[in-house]
Amino acid sequence: MLILGLETSCDETGVALYDTERGLVADALHSQVDLHAVYGGVVPEIASRDHLRRLLPLIRQVLGDAGIDKPDVVAYTAGPGLVGALMVGGGMATGLGLAWECPVIPVHHMEGHLVAPMLEEKAPDYPFLALLVSGGHTLLVWVRALGSYQVLGSTLDDAVGEAFDKTAKLLGLGYPGGAALARLAESGNDQAWQFPRPMFNREGFDFSFSGLKTAVMLKVREVQSLEDVRADIAASFQRAVVDTLVARTLKAAKYKNAARIIVAGGVGANESLRAALNEQFSGEVFYPRAEFCTDNGAMIAIAGALRVTDAANPATIYAKARWSLESLQPPAA
Ligand code: KG4
Ligand code: ZN
Repeated sequence: MLILGLETSCDETGVALYDTERGLVADALHSQVDLHAVYGGVVPEIASRDHLRRLLPLIRQVLGDAGIDKPDVVAYTAGPGLVGALMVGGGMATGLGLAWECPVIPVHHMEGHLVAPMLEEKAPDYPFLALLVSGGHTLLVWVRALGSYQVLGSTLDDAVGEAFDKTAKLLGLGYPGGAALARLAESGNDQAWQFPRPMFNREGFDFSFSGLKTAVMLKVREVQSLEDVRADIAASFQRAVVDTLVARTLKAAKYKNAARIIVAGGVGANESLRAALNEQFSGEVFYPRAEFCTDNGAMIAIAGALRVTDAANPATIYAKARWSLESLQPPAA
């Protein structure tokens, strides 16, 4: 069965084709980063309009690459995300579903991130602990099976990707600066400053990153020449974030007696985080390849494949700005 996946929840237009027999067949992505960079953040109306412009050409490209006229199923991101942006993907998916007379499956964006490691040869078995770290979310989730989720912890303020982006901005690295900050950190001394490890000794599994962000901001104001210490600040910030994420994740893994951990979402591409988890966790750690950590169509296509029994009414567009992961159910039998 061939599943076409459409991702339009934020600032990337992602399209991919997944074959339940052969795996990923084709994928294409258009990032809107340049359009939003001048505003220092995502402008929802600009995002929606650009999805509208990019989606059909990308679908044509993916179907062309795969050498087919139409898929058997269309899956799309129905939330959480920017409602206008979601409506573009949902409108396209339902329109195509009606025209092609094929099932249409609304997908939860975070479930997409969760199953992205299953696109790889080394794919995890259930149950596993998931650390989902993106620009909008920071979640520790116990995954018993597809659609059976217990959220153990989340952030009380900024998402971890947001903390990377805001810190990158302070260091003059542009937007979104997570990957640029990680590159700069490579040449810095991560012991230069001891930034706070928020919630380190707090009970439970929640995160908080606004205090760390403030500490970095105060440091930036205090230094004589930012240029001389930018790399050290980046490295020390990244070390504080990685220490915090790893400590909380290992604590949750112990609590759940987890044999496997998966890491996904944009910050999951961070090499320093990967190295620390690989070194400190005694079980197995799974990741999507770096390009499928950030938003993409492939994760929506495979999530659609796993939920192929959950077709929705193709005359209804589902678009939810907020949508709890725990409210999901396992796929219909
Ligand atoms: O998953 P994603 O594409 O979008 C959301 O759903 O939010 O994640 C984007 C986030 C941005 O905050 C970006 O700065 C961050 O992931 N990011 C990184 C790295 N690559 C992307 N953060 C740290 N290190 C990286 N290598
Ligand atoms: Zn995402």
